[in-house]
Amino acid sequence: MDKNAMKKMAAERSVDYVEDNMILGLGTGSTVVYMVEALAKRVKAENLHLTCVCTSIRTAEQATSLGIPVKALNEVDHIDLTIDGADEVDDNFQGIKGGGAAHLFEKLVATTSTRNIWIVDEEKVVDTIGRFPLPVEVIPFGSQQVFNKFVKEGLNPEFRTTEDGQRVLTDSKNEVIDLHLEKITHPHLLATWLSEQVGVVEHGLFLDLVNEVVVGSPEGVKILK
Ligand code: 5RP
Repeated sequence: MDKNAMKKMAAERSVDYVEDNMILGLGTGSTVVYMVEALAKRVKAENLHLTCVCTSIRTAEQATSLGIPVKALNEVDHIDLTIDGADEVDDNFQGIKGGGAAHLFEKLVATTSTRNIWIVDEEKVVDTIGRFPLPVEVIPFGSQQVFNKFVKEGLNPEFRTTEDGQRVLTDSKNEVIDLHLEKITHPHLLATWLSEQVGVVEHGLFLDLVNEVVVGSPEGVKILK
C-alpha cells in the first residue's frame, strides 16, 4: 500500500480525538497536512470552536488558509491535545522527530500539551530507533565546532542542506545537523549528552512524551496505547 495512503488514513482517524472548545497543538509534516485538511472539514461541518497552536510557519499558513483559528504558544495557558507526525517510534513510544526541521517548536508544544498523539504509517514503527538520522538543531555561530565534536564522538554528523547545497534553516533560523547512527540503544543517555552540548538548541529524540500512536497500515488503522 502506498505510504501516503497510510499517512492519510492515520491522519483522518486522529481528528476523532478532537472535541469542541479544545486548545489543540498542530504538528508539522506531510501526515499533518492530511490531518489539518480533515480537521478543517470537521470544524466547518460541526461548527467546532477550537484554538490551535502550530509548530511551524507551514502548518500555521495551512490552518489559517482553511479557516482554523491559530494562536501563538505564548498566547495560551495550556494545550489539551497535540496531534503530530513522527519519523520513527518504537514499542516503548520513544521516537525521533525533526525530519521537517520543526522539532524545536514541536517539542515545546508537546511538552505544554496534556496529551500527545502521533500519526504515522506502519513503516515508521520500529524495534529500535536510529535508522532515521537524528536531527539536532544548532545555532549557526560555531556550528562547525559542534559538528567537529560530533565527529569526534563517532556520531556520523551531516549538515542538512537543500538541493542547491544551502544549509537548511529552521523557523528560528538555526541549522540542522543529522546524526547517522543506525541504532540508538540508549536514547535517554544520548538525549542528556546532546542537551548538555553548547550550541545545541534541541535534538529530535522525543522520549516519554507520546500517549497514543495512530498507525495507518494495509490492514487499516491500528491504535497503539
Ligand atoms: C517535522 C516532523 C514530522 O512530524 C516528521 O518528520 C514526519 O513527517 P511526515 O509526516 O512528512 O513523514 O517531525 O519536524
